[in-house]
Amino acid sequence: MSLKDKLNKDKLPKHVAIIMDGNGRWAKKHGSTRIYGHKNGVKSVRETVEAAAELQIPFLTLYAFSTENWNRPRTEINALMSLLVGSLNKETDTLIKNNVRLLAIGDLKSLPRKVQKELNEAIETTKNNSGLSLVLALSYSSRWEIVHAIKQIGIDISNKKIDLQNFNEDMFVSYLTTATIPDPELLIRTSGEYRVSNFLLWQIAYTELYFTSKFWPEFRKEDFYQALYDFQGRERRFGKISEQIN
Ligand code: FPP
Repeated sequence: MSLKDKLNKDKLPKHVAIIMDGNGRWAKKHGSTRIYGHKNGVKSVRETVEAAAELQIPFLTLYAFSTENWNRPRTEINALMSLLVGSLNKETDTLIKNNVRLLAIGDLKSLPRKVQKELNEAIETTKNNSGLSLVLALSYSSRWEIVHAIKQIGIDISNKKIDLQNFNEDMFVSYLTTATIPDPELLIRTSGEYRVSNFLLWQIAYTELYFTSKFWPEFRKEDFYQALYDFQGRERRFGKISEQIN
């Protein structure tokens, strides 16, 4: 029996975020190049998107390229960008067929023009889809996002568009790149690393964290169900006590 059948469909998270890690180490284990690892990572992306869409999870965010990833060797950056362009090009029809809406967060202007073009086209073509919202974090880091938000807030204060006296958390959220996206309820990280690597730091304040030793190219639907099953066994108290929750 698949773990999928054991999942309580009324208690699924509304937003799952994933730090897809371990492509390089997986490739090394198979005596191949890091790029081979990234190519195989695309298969896991496809499986996970399909699984999330089938379960009618509203939001799935994938950390596909961090601000810090710009410091990798040029050849690897180029390969990742080509892979992105190729995947967007190839998969847009599948996204439409499966009613998936594509969104992107991050410093998108820093992406190569070709990536921006392909990304914008896919976002535009899928914008009216009402199923899963697939959010790609590209050239994204939380610290970048927070500083970017603060700069905008500064401008709006000086334009008298906002009043600092009444400024609150909800208003701050409206300046983040995730303004229209609910906070993740579950964050998965693959490859056996236990850190959050500058990902959605504000948004994961109350997120459940799940770590698996599987490398990202090994991650399959069943692994996704396992993470969801684990999530459903957690008691989320949000600072309250157990008796207040149950
Ligand atoms: C982390 O593994 C993975 C990345 C930095 C890139 C993720 C990209 C993909 C899975 C392919 C393209 C994505 C989409 C959405 C089509 P790593 O390179 O850090 O692995 P390591 O820690 O073992 O070196």
